Amino acid sequence: MIKILVLHGRNLNMLGTREPEIYGKTTLEQINDRLRGLAANLNSEVETFQSNSEGDLINIIHKKSVAIDGLIVNLGAYTHYSIALRDAISGFAKPTVEVHLSNIYAREPFRHMSVTAPVCRGMITGLGWRGYLLALEALIGLLREGEEIS
Ligand code: DQA
Repeated sequence: MIKILVLHGRNLNMLGTREPEIYGKTTLEQINDRLRGLAANLNSEVETFQSNSEGDLINIIHKKSVAIDGLIVNLGAYTHYSIALRDAISGFAKPTVEVHLSNIYAREPFRHMSVTAPVCRGMITGLGWRGYLLALEALIGLLREGEEIS
């Protein structure tokens, strides 16, 4: 059974009410429910975790690294400056897909750079909550093909 950990970073607990014109009206719980539903259809398992703290996000990557097969991350603002999270993803050494609800390249220049994307297998940006489902489908497909199994 393929197991995927989905990490949500800073401020993503506020989805639904936080700048809905940018991030949409879907709540984090709704996104997590949809991810669990899709995972079940694909005979896989998803675990979700949200934190506003960099250390918590790093610790869970370390703690789960053996048990999980892949990661999906939306680290929120950490995307743009957390070298420590980049190092944690790099050290994880299994495939990670980065997701952003908004199109970070269509926004302020400081959002154009992701320090974490270069150590990820790929990135989906600008497709709202659907981006998480696309990331999950892609990750499971890659893992099943065996390309990414270490
Ligand atoms: C975000 C984009 C980031 O720039 C921002 O800090 C977020 C959300 C997104 O999903 O579009 O918190 O990661």
